[in-house]
Amino acid sequence: MSNDFNHITVLLHETVDSLGEISGKSVVDCTLGGGGHTDLLLQKVGPTGHVIAFDRDHDALHHAQKRFAKEIEAGRLTLIDAPFSQFKERINALNLPSGVHGIIADIGVSSHQIDQPNRGFSFVHDGPLDMRMNDRDGQSAAEFLNEGSEEDIANVIYHFGEEHKSRQIAHLICNYRKLRPFKSTLDLANLIERARLWKEKSKKHPATKTFQALRIFINDELKELTDLIQNGFASLNVGGRMSIISFHSLEDRIVKEKFLEFCGKSKSNLIPRGLPLTADQIAVLTNAKAKKIGSFPDIPSDKEIEENPRSRSAKLRTIEKTTI
Ligand SMILES: C[S@@+](CC[C@H](N)C(=O)[O-])C[C@H]1O[C@@H](n2cnc3c(N)ncnc32)[C@H](O)[C@@H]1O
Repeated sequence: MSNDFNHITVLLHETVDSLGEISGKSVVDCTLGGGGHTDLLLQKVGPTGHVIAFDRDHDALHHAQKRFAKEIEAGRLTLIDAPFSQFKERINALNLPSGVHGIIADIGVSSHQIDQPNRGFSFVHDGPLDMRMNDRDGQSAAEFLNEGSEEDIANVIYHFGEEHKSRQIAHLICNYRKLRPFKSTLDLANLIERARLWKEKSKKHPATKTFQALRIFINDELKELTDLIQNGFASLNVGGRMSIISFHSLEDRIVKEKFLEFCGKSKSNLIPRGLPLTADQIAVLTNAKAKKIGSFPDIPSDKEIEENPRSRSAKLRTIEKTTI
């Protein structure tokens, strides 16, 4: 099996097992990446099952075409070159005879994307300041920093990076670009590092939050995730499950709140405790369409974190659809 794609799968068994019994079913891996989850899903659905795997990154799709050539040829794996926001159309177009029984997503970027200097995600490697997962569409991070208003840049860094120095960083960026345009990742990383905006030294690189913010903005990651949860859940069979791994609080908040809303437990429709109501009555009153599965969230074991420190912030949440 070729594995020239550098990515260690996070919560591999926990995620696939969270879908329950899937032998012979159709399931969707929304984040193909290096294919770690896809591979185990193929084993679990077995020879009569079908895995559909989405990615908007061409490197991931090319790698999977080679790695899973046999499964694709046998019609057991369908690769889809599209963002989450096209989930509904792309799944409908497949006309799956017995619908979708499980959906997983392992949100964010792969280590492969971060480690390739030419993708522009990393403040460690020098490369073009790009950051697009699909590098054929939309604006790059450099274009945004060279053309965006100072206020927009500050707001992006503040909201998507949760960076309290956002205004100062945006100001530095706008002064820098008066002299020369941003081209490379290190133009930005070094600018933030040299400014010494923080009194205390942190273990993290000072540009970490700014890079995260730009990546989320350039790839419209939070809207993509929201669309996926909405359209993915609508496409699921009753009894089918949806499991999502997120890596930071902005993503996890969206997953948790949307999932709790499906379970009739959003803040706006909580029923006071102690009322003599049956589970069915509560489900009707709260418009519950799903139930939580497992620990909500499940997190990596100490062993996994030791072997793969990148997994340390992962949170896996699963729900099962209980009614249409
Ligand atoms: C963390 S990696 C997945 C790793 C994979 N589970 C594995 O085991 O190798 C996330 C992948 O999802 C893709 N991705 C992220 N957001 C996406 C979106 N909105 N639409 C399609 N693909 C997306 C990225 O391009 C990346 O390849």
